[in-house]
Amino acid sequence: MLQKATYSDLAGKTVFITGGGSGIGAALTEAFVLQGSKVAFVDIAEEPSRALVERLERETGRAPLFMPCDIRDVAALQAAIARAGEELGDIGVLLNNAANDQRHKPEDVTVEYWDDRMAINIRPMFFAIQAVVPQMKRLGGGSIVNFGSVSWMIPQGGMPAYTTAKSAVQGLTRGLARDYGPFRIRLNMLVPGWVMTERQLTLWVTPEGEAEIDRNQCIKDRVMPEDIADMALFLGSDASSKCTSQEFIVDGGWI
Ligand SMILES: NC(=O)c1ccc[n+]([C@@H]2O[C@H](COP(=O)([O-])OP(=O)(O)OC[C@H]3O[C@@H](n4cnc5c(N)ncnc54)[C@H](O)[C@@H]3O)[C@@H](O)[C@H]2O)c1
Repeated sequence: MLQKATYSDLAGKTVFITGGGSGIGAALTEAFVLQGSKVAFVDIAEEPSRALVERLERETGRAPLFMPCDIRDVAALQAAIARAGEELGDIGVLLNNAANDQRHKPEDVTVEYWDDRMAINIRPMFFAIQAVVPQMKRLGGGSIVNFGSVSWMIPQGGMPAYTTAKSAVQGLTRGLARDYGPFRIRLNMLVPGWVMTERQLTLWVTPEGEAEIDRNQCIKDRVMPEDIADMALFLGSDASSKCTSQEFIVDGGWI
C-alpha cells in the first residue's frame, strides 16, 4: 500500500480494531501496522484474518494480534479489549468498524432479526467504548472512531435495521463525546460512501451500480478501502486532537 502520510505519534500506540480482518477493516489494520502501531483486532472471519496477519508479518516484520471473536458476544469483546491492553499496552485508539449490511425487506423483519442487526451493528460499539475508556483514561486521552454509513443519509432503502443502527452511531458518538471530553477522549464518526471492498464488488456493484456511482459522485474515481484508512489515521492521531463529536464523510462527494 502506498504510504501517503506518517503520523509519528501513532508509532508504538496500541490500536484496537473490530472487524479488522477483511474489507475496510483489513485496510485499517494494514495502515496502522505501517505506521508502527501495535495493532490488535477481532473478527469472526478467521481465514482472511489469519492470512492478513501472515502477510503483514512477512512484509513488515510486525504481526498484528488477531483474536477470533463474534462481537455479538459482549463479554468476549470486552475480554479481547482487556487482553489487548495487557499484552500490547493500554489502548489509545479504538476503531469500531465491524458491521453487517445484509439486505432485508421491511416486511420480512422479525423481532429476532431486528435484535440481531442491533447486536452486530450498534451494541458492540457502546460496549467496546465502555471497556476501552479506563485504558484511555490511564493514558491521559484517546481517540475512538465509530463507523457510520451514508446509506441512511442518501437515503437508501432495503435494509431498515441496518440503516437504523447506522444512524444511531451519531447519537452514540455525540453523547459520549460530551461525557469523555474532559478526559481528552475524543469520539468521531467516519462515514464511508460506497467503498469498493471485495464484498461490495461481489454482491452489489453491478453495471447499474457503476452508473449510479458515475452519476452521483462529484469525483468519479472509486472510493477504495485505503481512502477510508487515510481518514482513520488522521482521526486516530494527535493531528486531529481538537476534533471530537464530528462526522467525517469520505464518499467522493455523493450528491
Ligand atoms: N463498504 C461500503 O461501501 C461501506 C459503506 C458505508 C459504510 N460502511 C461501513 O464501514 C465499515 C466496514 O465495512 P466493510 O464494507 O468493510 O464491511 P465488510 O462486511 O466487508 O467487513 C466487515 C468486517 O467485520 C467482520 N464482522 C462482521 N460481523 C462480525 C461479528 N459479528 N463479529 C466479528 N466480526 C464481524 C467481517 O468478518 C468483516 O471482516 C462498516 O461499519 C460499514 O457499515 C461501508
